[in-house]
Amino acid sequence: MEGTQTAAGAAFPRVRMRRLRASGTMRRMVRETRLSPDRLVLPLFAIEGRDARVPIDALPGQARMSPDLLAATARRVFAAGVPAVLLFGVTDRKDAAASAAYDASGVVQTAVAAIKDAVPEMVVVTDVCLCAYTDHGHCGVLVDGHVHNDMSLELLARTAASHAEAGADVVAPSDMMDGRVGAIREALDAEGHEGTSILAYSAKYASAFYGPFREAAGSAPGFGDRRGYQMDPANGREAVRETLLDVAEGADMVMVKPAAAYLDVIAGVRAATDLPLAAYHVSGEYSMIKAAAERGWLDERTAAMEVLTGIARAGADLLITYYAEDAARWIAEEDA
Ligand code: PBG
Repeated sequence: MEGTQTAAGAAFPRVRMRRLRASGTMRRMVRETRLSPDRLVLPLFAIEGRDARVPIDALPGQARMSPDLLAATARRVFAAGVPAVLLFGVTDRKDAAASAAYDASGVVQTAVAAIKDAVPEMVVVTDVCLCAYTDHGHCGVLVDGHVHNDMSLELLARTAASHAEAGADVVAPSDMMDGRVGAIREALDAEGHEGTSILAYSAKYASAFYGPFREAAGSAPGFGDRRGYQMDPANGREAVRETLLDVAEGADMVMVKPAAAYLDVIAGVRAATDLPLAAYHVSGEYSMIKAAAERGWLDERTAAMEVLTGIARAGADLLITYYAEDAARWIAEEDA
């Protein structure tokens, strides 16, 4: 970022950085990063039933909803300018083979159809994982107490294909099994879904910030943790390797998750690939701001916009955030 502008002699008092900060208009003119509602993706949680809405304690303002209410929500947020939602399924139907994950009349499949029916232009992304559907809560198939990589691939691919069949525009594998992007691409193509995109959770870390989500989705592992497949928060270079492997396997878009504590990773992945890059501002990152704001310790809107701007500044194209609807409104107000 060193430029010719900072040649010898260009220093105080000739240079005064405050000049360009003097007025609001000036600040807007020289602003480097501008959020747009077009970048936002809102995560939603699907449950079975009708007219069902169950608030999520650990995610203030968010709720699990039945397909009819999800469709109404999708209509509202699309009108507010948010172009996409990311769907998660929540169900009591759990077994060793995660069979509810790839059931054609499963909770995600039903919700996708309802949303696409209500708002055809909305981009519907589905989270592809097994953890909400396995009786042990791990993201793949267990063999001798271990998550078996290659056996999990078939079920993940089947799940992704069933989401595509239901109308998903984008499938987003979040399981962190090796080779799943390739396996999913193959299954999609074999079943005539060559137009369905893959957004790979390429660099997904074993993070404490998923805590509120696991309450929301009922997907906490019954034993152990996810460190056998999710990344070590200490590793940055590995994120680039993971991403390039997903690109080679056919990912259309890639992701870094979480976001706010991983800005260097976002910047590193940004430099390594030209694919659209998403960053997931996860549940705990959202709830932290909510909790502090509730106590009056910080201003919610300013804090949330600062964090989202930071994530975009680091190089993310798409921001997956529980703040999507609020942020779309805040951006519109700022632009007004
Ligand atoms: C499923 C999945 C998780 C999240 C997204 N997909 C939880 C996990 O890996 O334990 C977390 C999202 C959030 O915290 O907002 N594997």
